[in-house]
Amino acid sequence: MGQVIAVIGAGTMGAQITQVLATFGFEVRLHDLDDARLAAAVGRIQRGRFGLDRGVERAKLTADQARDAMGRISTTTSLEAACAGVDGVLEVVFEDLSLKMALFRRLDPLVGAGTILASNTAGLSIAALAGATERPGRVIGWHWFQPCAVMRLNELVVAPATSDATVATVSSWAERCGKSVRVVGDNPRTWGHVANRLNEAVRAEARRVVDEGLADADTVDAIMREGFAWPMGPFEGQRLPE
Ligand SMILES: NC(=O)c1ccc[n+]([C@@H]2O[C@H](COP(=O)([O-])OP(=O)(O)OC[C@H]3O[C@@H](n4cnc5c(N)ncnc54)[C@H](O)[C@@H]3O)[C@@H](O)[C@H]2O)c1
Repeated sequence: MGQVIAVIGAGTMGAQITQVLATFGFEVRLHDLDDARLAAAVGRIQRGRFGLDRGVERAKLTADQARDAMGRISTTTSLEAACAGVDGVLEVVFEDLSLKMALFRRLDPLVGAGTILASNTAGLSIAALAGATERPGRVIGWHWFQPCAVMRLNELVVAPATSDATVATVSSWAERCGKSVRVVGDNPRTWGHVANRLNEAVRAEARRVVDEGLADADTVDAIMREGFAWPMGPFEGQRLPE
């Protein structure tokens, strides 16, 4: 079982994922390009709306567990230091294929032969990222949903070369974090993995209904809650807090 994970990118998702991994016992090396971003991420992990302090207030974890989780997180602006000896790397930088491919190309020789390289991309091709490395069998999409401390789904995106062992290992890491794992395929010709394609289809239709003047956003949300038992409507889902 992996113990040490490097999270590359300390933005909205990187900070939240780091928090969850550390809460469930992983040592996490959080990397971003400058100290200010790393400090802001640590602040959100501690004091954010779904951060550790709130978790303690809401009795989701004890003060000791929150302190231990924070103790398992280290930050660095050095990619080399972040990646030394890790079991896995989770890339969480901007949704930009050439940026991610360049990063995977750089990560490949930095990590050990057995290290898994995962991406939190919401829709870019995992096969393309795998092709930027010499370890396509150990490249996978590991897609989280925010707020990461609350949302149960982890979507694992499997490219043709991704090995069964990689899927099994990342599944075990996700399950250790209490997540529900759903494994889906990779379509390099379309942006969006399965979860985002479904969500975007509903949102697009909801926007069309409003544009046509058939119902306002609140009515659309109510229809989906009351008619289809959705916990919240498509417009409410777009107003999620950080
Ligand atoms: N925001 C969401 O709700 C959400 C949900 C699921 C998946 N995603 C995916 O997660 C990824 C990140 O999204 P986000 O919303 O956290 O973005 P963000 O803009 O909040 O954060 C991205 C971070 O990456 C850092 N970064 C950029 N280039 C870097 C590099 N070369 N090395 C190290 N750090 C670098 C930036 O400094 C920034 O802090 C994207 O691929 C996105 O599609 C986002």
